[in-house]
Order: sequence, then C-alpha cells, then structure tokens
Amino acid sequence: MRALHVRTMHKDDADAILEIDKKITGTKRKGFWLSRVAYGIARDPGASLVAEIDEKVVGFILCDLRGGGFAPTENGWIEILGIDPDYQRRGIGKLLCEEALKHFKEKGVGRVRVSFSWASSDVAALLKSLDFHRAECITLEKDLI
Ligand SMILES: CC(C)(COP(=O)(O)OP(=O)(O)OC[C@H]1O[C@@H](n2cnc3c(N)ncnc32)[C@H](O)[C@@H]1OP(=O)(O)O)[C@@H](O)C(=O)NCCC(=O)NCCS
Repeated sequence: MRALHVRTMHKDDADAILEIDKKITGTKRKGFWLSRVAYGIARDPGASLVAEIDEKVVGFILCDLRGGGFAPTENGWIEILGIDPDYQRRGIGKLLCEEALKHFKEKGVGRVRVSFSWASSDVAALLKSLDFHRAECITLEKDLI
C-alpha cells in the first residue's frame, strides 16, 4: 500500500467525506455532511481526522466532546467513521480510531463513547478489536411514523 497519512479534518474535506459516505450508503447527504463536519470541528478541533493516500481522502472519523444532560462528565464521542470500500480491511479504520483515542487521552478525557446500530457488524468488530465494551447507558427509540 502507498504511504498512508493521517491528519486533522478540515471543513474542505466535507466533499471527499460525502463521496465515501455515498459509496458506503448509496445515498448523497450533502447538507448533513456540511453541517456535521463544521459542527464537529468547531466543538473539538483536532478530534476529527482523515486518512489520505497520495493526497486522496480514503477514510475519516468524526468526533467531538459531549457533556451535560444526563452525563455528569464530558465524554469523547466517535460520531461516525467510514473507510472507502476500496480501502477497507487494511488497518485504516483502526488507525483512525487509535489516533482519535490518543487525542482524547492527551486532553485528559476519561471515557470515549460511540453509538451505532447492531446491524453495523463491521463497526462492532472494529470497536471490539479496540477493547470497547457495552456502556452503562441505554438508547431508546419511539416510532413517530
Ligand atoms: C467499520 C470500518 C470503519 C472498518 O474500517 P477498516 O479500515 O476496514 O477496518 P480495519 O482494517 O482497521 O480493521 C481492524 C479490525 O476490525 C475488525 N473488522 C473490521 N472490518 C470488519 C469486517 N467487515 N468484518 C469483521 N471484522 C472487521 C477486524 O478485527 C479487523 O482486524 P483484521 O483485519 O486484522 O481482522 C469500515 O468497514 C467502514 O467504513 N464500514 C462502514 C461504516 C459505516 O457504515 N459508516 C457510516 C457511513 S459513512
């Protein structure tokens, strides 16, 4: 594999992220990504990262810090991550997670959380390989339609 480079995410990366998201989900969600990237970067600059090969963005991890509400302390959160399907299973997702965890640890954050669907078995397998475990919290949902 050619040289892999991890760097901080910038607002200008939104289009490349949008393309990866489209390759994974088959859906183009431009407004969603523009606001998500801008929000994540504003909340915790340096927590969100992209992986590049030959200056092409091939993966990303969007993170931020969240606190208040029901949570007594501020936790790091992995909001979403995605690797271009052409570049999966080469250790890029794991590397992005490890770098994001390092960032939070250096900031003194004691815990990192992530919420995702059980249908995402690839995400579950990746996080298990990084020793994530079930949190003492619960997500409920109610159908409105
Ligand atoms: C989950 C995801 C991030 C993994 O990234 P990746 O770069 O392919 O994963 P890695 O190569 O770093 O894998 C590290 C470990 O995680 C586990 N793993 C990753 N993908 C897996 C899969 N599809 N099945 C089983 N285990 C998996 C393995 O233990 C793997 O180690 P190994 O390759 O030595 O067995 C990637 O598959 C992805 O982007 N999936 C789509 C996620 C999504 O829906 N995002 C929202 C839309 S953008």
